Parts: sequence; structure tokens; C-alpha cells
Amino acid sequence: MYRRHAPAYDRRVAVTQPIRRQAVARLRLEPGDVVLDVGCGTGLSFPLILARIGSEGQLVGIELSPDMMAKARERVESSDWQNVTLIESPVEEAQIPDQVDAVLFHFTHDILRSPQALENVFQHVKRGGRVAAAGTKWAPWWAFPVNFYVWSLARRYVTTLEGFARPWSHLLRTVPDLRVEPVLFGGGYIAWGTVPKG
Ligand SMILES: C[S@@+](CC[C@H](N)C(=O)[O-])C[C@H]1O[C@@H](n2cnc3c(N)ncnc32)[C@H](O)[C@@H]1O
Repeated sequence: MYRRHAPAYDRRVAVTQPIRRQAVARLRLEPGDVVLDVGCGTGLSFPLILARIGSEGQLVGIELSPDMMAKARERVESSDWQNVTLIESPVEEAQIPDQVDAVLFHFTHDILRSPQALENVFQHVKRGGRVAAAGTKWAPWWAFPVNFYVWSLARRYVTTLEGFARPWSHLLRTVPDLRVEPVLFGGGYIAWGTVPKG
């Protein structure tokens, strides 16, 4: 699916940039933080994350698609970022190197609906670590024009619409204080919270 999307992906999703900015802001990143960008795609979130964590921070991107990862690699090399590690793997099997301070799931519905992926990720998140997720979801039933638009987009980018009413629901097991804000007239969301300390 993403082999087909990779060449024009950045241009096609430019409209989601304000949501990306808000989702990254919700992570409350500090200089020196270690951050996981799960399903990082072509690395569009990297500049926003790196601007906050600085050169002393570390960014780890995990991506399944070789074509999307090739674009992410190009971005890292052309910017000469020395503190970005790219892992080309399904999240479910990724060898995540560190305990991280923050995790971003940006437009990664398939991953949010994979309990194995979430289990692997959360084994590597520090207590008190911050989590943000954003993506599309079903709007209320009466907003059917929004839902038609959401469906026409989603069918091209996700392999399942399971859980599409509340894509964040599995996150609640590890992030019980998760807050959810609807965006895109209810056809999208930003969710954020913290892994409990105790
Ligand atoms: C819609 S794109 C979002 C990419 C990026 N997060 C962004 O905001 O631009 C979803 C990405 O998740 C990746 N993906 C889907 N399932 C995955 C999995 N199980 N493991 C790793 N990556 C996965 C896809 O290959 C794709 O690049």
C-alpha cells in the first residue's frame, strides 16, 4: 500500500500539518528527551520533534514500509541529523533500543489497533512518559458528509476500520489519563496522556 503512496505522500498529507504540530506540542518535549515516532513514514514529524529535543535528544523512528523508510532516510541524511535512529521493521517486532520519554503515533490507525505493537512500544516507555496520538475517526452518525470524506481518505491509508469510532481505545490500558480532542469536524482526533508513575 505504502509503496504506491511514498512518492507523493508528503504533498498529499500537507493538509494535516496543523494537527501534526498540535500532536507534537502535546508531548511537552524537553531538550535531551528520547522520543519514539511509531510508524514514522517519511519522517514528516522529525523536524518538529528535533526542534524541541535539540541535538542532545534522541529520536527513534520505526517504519514497516521500505519505500516510506527510504524517504525518511533521505530526509535524515540531507539534514545531517546525527541523533536519529531509523528501524525498518513492523512495530510488533522492532528492537527498540532505549527507554523513551515520549511516544508519537501520528496517523497510525493500524498500529493503534495492534495490541502486540502497543505491548512492544510500552515496554520501552519510562514511567511518567508522555504519549500523543492523532488521526482520523468516525464523526457522529449525523455528520455523514464528514464520514464519507473520512472513509474516502482512510480506505487508502489503513488496512482495517476496526475500532474507527475510538481508535485510541487500546491506549487507555497503559495511558489511563488519556484526553481526547476532536478535530476536523469530528472526523479526526488528537489524544494525549501520561504513563502512570506508580
Ligand atoms: C498514514 S502513514 C503515517 C506516517 C507518519 N506517521 C506521518 O504522520 O506522516 C502510516 C504509516 O504507518 C506505517 N505502518 C503501518 N503499520 C505498521 C506496522 N505494523 N509497523 C510499522 N509501521 C507500520 C505505514 O507503513 C505508514 O508509513
